[in-house]
Amino acid sequence: MTKRAPWQRTHTCGALTLANQGQEVVLNGWIENHRHHGQIVFLDLRDRYGVTQVVVDQDLAGTAPGTFDLVRRLGAEDVLSVRGRVRTRGANANQNRSTGAIEVEALQVTVLSEAETPPFEILDQAEANEELRMQYRYLDLRRRPLQEALSKRAKFVTAVRTYLQQQNFIDLETPILTKSTPEGARDYLVPSRVHPGKFFALPQSPQIFKQLCMVAGLDRYYQIARCFRDEDLRADRQPEFTQIDLEMSFVEEHDVLDMVEGMVIHAMKEGFGIDLPQPFPRFDFFEAMERFGCDKPDLRFGMELIDCTELAKRSDFKVFASAVAAGGVVKGLCAVGGAEKFSRKGIDELTAFVAGLGAKGLAWAKVTAAGLEGSIAKFYEGAKGAELCAHLGAKPGDLLLFVADQKKVVLKALGDLRLKVGGQLGLRDPKVFRCCWVLNFPMFEWNEEKSRWQFAHNPFSAPVDWNVQDFSQDTANLRSRAYDFVMNGWELGSGSIRIHRPELQAKVFEFLGISKEQQRANFGFLLDAYKYGGPPHGGIALGVDRMVALALGREGIRDVIAFPKTSMAFDLMAAAPSAVADEQLKELSIATTVKPNAGGPAG
Ligand code: AMO
Ligand code: AMP
Repeated sequence: MTKRAPWQRTHTCGALTLANQGQEVVLNGWIENHRHHGQIVFLDLRDRYGVTQVVVDQDLAGTAPGTFDLVRRLGAEDVLSVRGRVRTRGANANQNRSTGAIEVEALQVTVLSEAETPPFEILDQAEANEELRMQYRYLDLRRRPLQEALSKRAKFVTAVRTYLQQQNFIDLETPILTKSTPEGARDYLVPSRVHPGKFFALPQSPQIFKQLCMVAGLDRYYQIARCFRDEDLRADRQPEFTQIDLEMSFVEEHDVLDMVEGMVIHAMKEGFGIDLPQPFPRFDFFEAMERFGCDKPDLRFGMELIDCTELAKRSDFKVFASAVAAGGVVKGLCAVGGAEKFSRKGIDELTAFVAGLGAKGLAWAKVTAAGLEGSIAKFYEGAKGAELCAHLGAKPGDLLLFVADQKKVVLKALGDLRLKVGGQLGLRDPKVFRCCWVLNFPMFEWNEEKSRWQFAHNPFSAPVDWNVQDFSQDTANLRSRAYDFVMNGWELGSGSIRIHRPELQAKVFEFLGISKEQQRANFGFLLDAYKYGGPPHGGIALGVDRMVALALGREGIRDVIAFPKTSMAFDLMAAAPSAVADEQLKELSIATTVKPNAGGPAG
């Protein structure tokens, strides 16, 4: 026996096809469009599954009395129940819709809910400004691209769960009210009422807890984990975001990388229908820097940075020779087919672009059958030009671009230029996906502002050399067992093999200037835990929001999060954060130095 009420749907708005012709059906949904043609009104009824055209004909026999008059008064986003009969649209079929071959002749229309005129039209290609749409996020979420993103995201995450479950991972929740974990951002703090003057920190990641899970012998942990970081926001950053966070015991790098590779391939296929070519290349950090000028190579195209320092040493071109003499390097790249694409003006733009990145100039040459043309041509005539072309693998029609400077400047300038030129040559197709791994990151990086070394990944990453005695010796070249997962030039995940011995961990903290007292106060429980037998372990965290945004070709991660925050870390819909009552503050033993109505982006 069916328990369906008469108004409840028999089908969704995406279900009906010619196979249903002649059937009496009930649809529920929102009015997306309504068009009046004299005796006939056409309605497009929308739900998550699709859109179905409904025809209300004043003269149709069997129609409930008053239906036509009712329908004429309806407007966009009213919620309806429509009972009617499926008929073919014949030659008028709409090929762009799954239901385009049919329409429903209305016999009865019931208004389930009336909508006020919405503040903006619900369109696939949003026209209203983003702030307005974020304020009315529940309306923005009615748009198909957002619904598609959320449902594919869910499919993707489900596939991740299934895969990890099969690989024996335990899905485990770690605390949200906890202590600061050092991921390098500011903490969001939560005052404790019960412990006046004390604060919880929201986790920047479950890092310490997942390591404790390994000490606990849980062997394989994962969590689709929410992380909270108070940092400057960009298109690929939100103050709260989601990670596929995992950790494994008794492993080396390749165990983690192989496992994650299998998981990513499975979930990208299930969630988005994307086939990723395997295996994902693995680069040493310095190799990636030399070849691509950055630690997150976009492998959708070649155009690698080619070292020309040796050739430059012998060059009559002063810029090259003197850069090398000053301890610098010369690198070049060959833009295949770029000679025609880039006019003088185009090359001037590229020159300005690298100047903005600190380069002193951009040397260039177009390759022709007769030799080189361009700023360095006169220094590379005849055999010399041929030698340069051979070195860069260049042929007529290509454009050669060079920067000479200290290595750091050259890598930055040419690395970014490679991406820019690759984009202009149409080599960065958003429908093509290429993954890779970058391994052995530097252990520490120099913080100019604070004039001291800080950890590059996190302070729990093991050094490549277990026996390193003194971190202050040759610090810049010390490497950690940290790795990044990269797709199309985006860093999507980071992880490492961890330190599992308390003495070594304490030594790293010490080098980072974290005093014994601070170590005890912040990480005492981790250091203690290792005293009782910590297994060798390692893991990774992948940014779900970034993966989904990239897979779907969306501009930023806001487009794949149901309720995101603005770039000012503000929730426009709920108007959060907001002021709280004095009594609440008192209860929490908190006094604010901000005058009422003076703080916050939206008052
Ligand atoms: P990490 O800090 O590199 O590593 O973060 C891992 C991945 O999380 C994503 N991510 C973000 N996504 C959106 N908004 C943000 N603000 C944001 N910050 C990071 C990125 C990034 O690659 N505990 C370590 C992991 C480990 O060592 O296992 C960690 O959190 O995709
Ligand atoms: P100039 O000798 O300054 O007239 O420069 C000749 C060409 O070399 C111009 O195309 C400059 O942009 C380029 N150039 C100048 N300095 C550098 C540099 N450090 N690296 C690469 N090209 C440079």
